[in-house]
Amino acid sequence: MNGYPFYLTWSKQKGGLTYPLDSVDDHFIYSNKEKKLDLSSISYQASFGLRPNFIEKAISDQLNNFSIVAPKAIFDLKEKVTKDLLKLIDLDGGKIFYTVSGAESVENALKMARIYTGKKKVLARKPSYHGGTLGAVSVTGDWRNQNVDTLDQWTIRIPEPEDDLDLSQTSKIFETNNDLAAIILETVPGNNGVLIPTKEWLQGIQKLCHKHNVLLILDEVICGFYRLGTPFGFQSFDVKPDMITMAKGITGGVIPFGAVWTNDKIHEHFNDKILSCGLTNYAHPLGLAALEAVLAHIEQASFKDHLASLLSEFKKDLEGLSQKTRVIGALAAIDLKDAPSWNTFWDEGISLIAQKDRIILAPHLNLPIDIWKESFNKLEKLLV
Ligand SMILES: Cc1ncc(COP(=O)(O)O)c(C=O)c1O
Repeated sequence: MNGYPFYLTWSKQKGGLTYPLDSVDDHFIYSNKEKKLDLSSISYQASFGLRPNFIEKAISDQLNNFSIVAPKAIFDLKEKVTKDLLKLIDLDGGKIFYTVSGAESVENALKMARIYTGKKKVLARKPSYHGGTLGAVSVTGDWRNQNVDTLDQWTIRIPEPEDDLDLSQTSKIFETNNDLAAIILETVPGNNGVLIPTKEWLQGIQKLCHKHNVLLILDEVICGFYRLGTPFGFQSFDVKPDMITMAKGITGGVIPFGAVWTNDKIHEHFNDKILSCGLTNYAHPLGLAALEAVLAHIEQASFKDHLASLLSEFKKDLEGLSQKTRVIGALAAIDLKDAPSWNTFWDEGISLIAQKDRIILAPHLNLPIDIWKESFNKLEKLLV
């Protein structure tokens, strides 16, 4: 029985999974005085560890300056950080719309796409998660879409890549629907099993989008900010989205924040038309300060060098397992025959994401190699 005065997310309230939290340090969670290595970056957001001093300090410095501003306020931090973010995205200009979460980034991207195109329907994959708000959960295809009466009349599912290698069925969907505003895809569906598409498939989708004037929205809430080893996931697949949704790693999870990137054509459309999107905490200075710190951090050679070594060990170790694995950057799924029990790993000091027939790993990007090696040895034993 849950006697807490607050809800537990995504579960029945009776008997839902919880654990007592004493404290955290760089890579560990302390629960009932026991140490647990965080191998999932909590929910994929803690990309720089659990106490990223450089982000915490940036927020605290900004608190000493100002912390509350109007969405319409113009200040140096807002202009500078946005220019730096555009540089990292590196897609010929574009503009940023700020939010405070992944779902809100998706929600606003969907709204902008519908306003810009004047069309309503959105294509999406079945194994996908795009957020818990009504619009975002309507394009979501996994179980979280099931218990809500979502706006399904506006969503069309495309076949899975392996069922439509030449994209002939998907192509028909593009041809026969003249009310398509966009397609939304996680560049690599993360929490639905790290389903890495081929470059050809993603580039084929992009071609169909160009041919039929449909916007390509890439949801990079998990994949962005080096989770896949490149600044953004789309850079690993040589595609150019029209819109990108971001959150999680954008501030390493230290403060709720998110963003949407749109291409030049989309933002120019709104020069003389009202952009019917907004939020009280738009471009919040504490979020901007955290993002500024993240952008400076990931530019450092020491960050990139360490990441390259970690990713190489991570890939080598996981691909050597006898189980079926899918690894890209610092994101991996290991398929298992028997349903893994989250407790089995937790009791051995490892915190990870355990699902029906797989576990998912998303380590901190700054995890020391020796800690990874030690935990991999433990993990390997638990998997046999
Ligand atoms: C790909 C993707 N998009 C959107 C979201 C929603 O983000 P948030 O929980 O910050 O609303 C998530 C959350 O897990 C996600 O994985």
